[in-house]
Amino acid sequence: MVLVFATNNDNKVKEVRAMLGNAFEIITLKESGIDIDIPEPHDTLEDNAREKSTVIYNMTGKNCFSEDTGLEIDALNGEPGVLSARYAGEQKEAADNIVKVLTNLQSQPNRKAQFRTVISLRLGEQEHQFEGICEGEILESTTGVKGFGYDPIFKPSGADRSFAQMEMSEKNSYSHRAKAFSKLVAFLKEQQPA
Ligand code: IMP
Repeated sequence: MVLVFATNNDNKVKEVRAMLGNAFEIITLKESGIDIDIPEPHDTLEDNAREKSTVIYNMTGKNCFSEDTGLEIDALNGEPGVLSARYAGEQKEAADNIVKVLTNLQSQPNRKAQFRTVISLRLGEQEHQFEGICEGEILESTTGVKGFGYDPIFKPSGADRSFAQMEMSEKNSYSHRAKAFSKLVAFLKEQQPA
């Protein structure tokens, strides 16, 4: 089965491709010849994920999936959440977002946080959603240079280092996106005739 992954984020594509068996093939927007900034106008991850998969399904007529991810921080009442990409402004700069999180958490002993991913899968007219959560904590300062986004300040529970210190395979053994994606894969396998 071929699925279009409705994202312009190459890091997400790499992570998801690293988890793929040979049962499915993923085509990126770039590979489909699509160059648009997909809107994220809603105030929930679920609605934004649905918006993205719907826009791309309507453009391509192909089965596709999208995902929306938020970093939800306990002491900030779940912020930045659905605003994670634009937390420090419309420039969507990871470094600025990290500074804002660390500033807002200054002197805050409760560092509990979670990443939450919602995948929206469009198979024809039907939509299915899959959620993946990774609990962890926000570090006092940036640590590591791998990964992307908030990875340098997030340490998953059970790990001794940040996502940005991990190889992709190690990050995928903890990550929100990997958990949501493995649910999608299990669902698709159930749909396919034996
Ligand atoms: P979106 O799902 O692309 O809207 O991502 C929301 C924000 O969370 C962006 O700033 C991303 O860089 C960040 N983000 C998404 N997934 C991850 C991740 O796995 N690690 C760190 N940051 C992430």
